[in-house]
Amino acid sequence: MVKTPELRSVPELIAHKRDGGALSDAELRSLVNRYATGELPDYQMAALAMAIYFRGMTPAETTAYTLAMRDSGRVMDLSKIPGKKIDKHSTGGVGDKISLSLAPIVAACGVPVPMMAGRGLGHTGGTLDKLEAIPGFHVDLTPKQFAQQLATLGCAIIGQTADLAPADKRLYALRDVTATIESIPLITGSILSKKLAEGLDGLVMDVKVGRGAFMKNVDDARVLAKSLVRVGRQAGKDVRALLTRMDDPLGLMIGNALEVRESFLTLRGEGPADLLECTLALGSEMLQMGGVAKSRAEAHRRLLRAMRDGSAASLMERMIAAQGGDKRVVAEPDRLPAAKVRIPITAPKGGTVQQIDALELGLTGVALGAGRTQTDDVVDPRVGIELAAVVGDRVAAGAPLAYLHVNERRGHGRHVARVRDAFTLGARAVSLPPLVIERITR
Ligand code: URA
Repeated sequence: MVKTPELRSVPELIAHKRDGGALSDAELRSLVNRYATGELPDYQMAALAMAIYFRGMTPAETTAYTLAMRDSGRVMDLSKIPGKKIDKHSTGGVGDKISLSLAPIVAACGVPVPMMAGRGLGHTGGTLDKLEAIPGFHVDLTPKQFAQQLATLGCAIIGQTADLAPADKRLYALRDVTATIESIPLITGSILSKKLAEGLDGLVMDVKVGRGAFMKNVDDARVLAKSLVRVGRQAGKDVRALLTRMDDPLGLMIGNALEVRESFLTLRGEGPADLLECTLALGSEMLQMGGVAKSRAEAHRRLLRAMRDGSAASLMERMIAAQGGDKRVVAEPDRLPAAKVRIPITAPKGGTVQQIDALELGLTGVALGAGRTQTDDVVDPRVGIELAAVVGDRVAAGAPLAYLHVNERRGHGRHVARVRDAFTLGARAVSLPPLVIERITR
């Protein structure tokens, strides 16, 4: 007798996927729901995630899986809040602190930004870990508080609550420590489940490509971007994607409090040029999707105005205060937690910086304690890496390439070596191509 799909046991479903089979809507929904409630243990979900990692999913499976993840909890209705609610999400990079400043900048331009963000994943940092570096800031608003803050301020950044995409909350942490991150269907389901649950109208995806991203080449990144756009649109949302370069880190700071500090510069239109370029590219999509700018040029003007006239910084202060944090950090970033020691890492020879391996720096950041290697690790907001040179810079032998921000002077020999080796120095002059590689809207 042929068993009906519902009667297949979990080991049979894992084996079916392991052997290259496709799972049905009902099977995926049952697995996701049982995982969300704790009925399905981590070891079975880890095995399934690894099978999906190797075997992939069909487009139909990816859609069914994403919708099941979304429906594992409550789906918010923000339709009573006027305006199109537009969010942005990155697939993850090193030094990628764009969301922190982008949400208040875009909201200051009149587009409500409901943002449900994630924690660090693998070698990449997470918006929630960064925000929690702000003393008192909490990311666990209830859906009601989230909607109220969105209505009054125009932006809120929260983590997954117990009832919003709970399956992703658990699976995200599990994937982080089981080497099952770099999978197009799993990333699609993870990102879109929480985004669709937050009740947005539109989403701009920043799909990172390169050494420091989960997608190492443009072809894979394009497939991921198309998967996100396709599934998002099937769920009735305006989803667009930019493929952006992530070979070397974004900005100069890697590590939670360090990145918050740097994002406050971007908030005022200051700071590293690559952060500003990425912020303007993503923000201009959001303003056009939100209907407050008709062209990219108009959007850029509005975004720059909000940065320079202080309205974005003021909104950031109000958002921090509304979420329990010390808003004085925006004007006085020295109030942020800081490491005790700053260790310089110097150039072994003179030359031009040809490349900086973002993956190596991301992994070193995790090793310093800025990220996790086990689900229950507690991150240290103070530690990280500060770049003193970027690609294209000429450095003399013995000049600083970077600094480690740590809490004790001793015991960092291998971290210093790893950061130094992440820099390639050579004789060639280097100029970086634009950050945005491609725009995908369908
Ligand atoms: N960001 C997410 O939210 N999930 C992923 O799987 C990768 C990046």
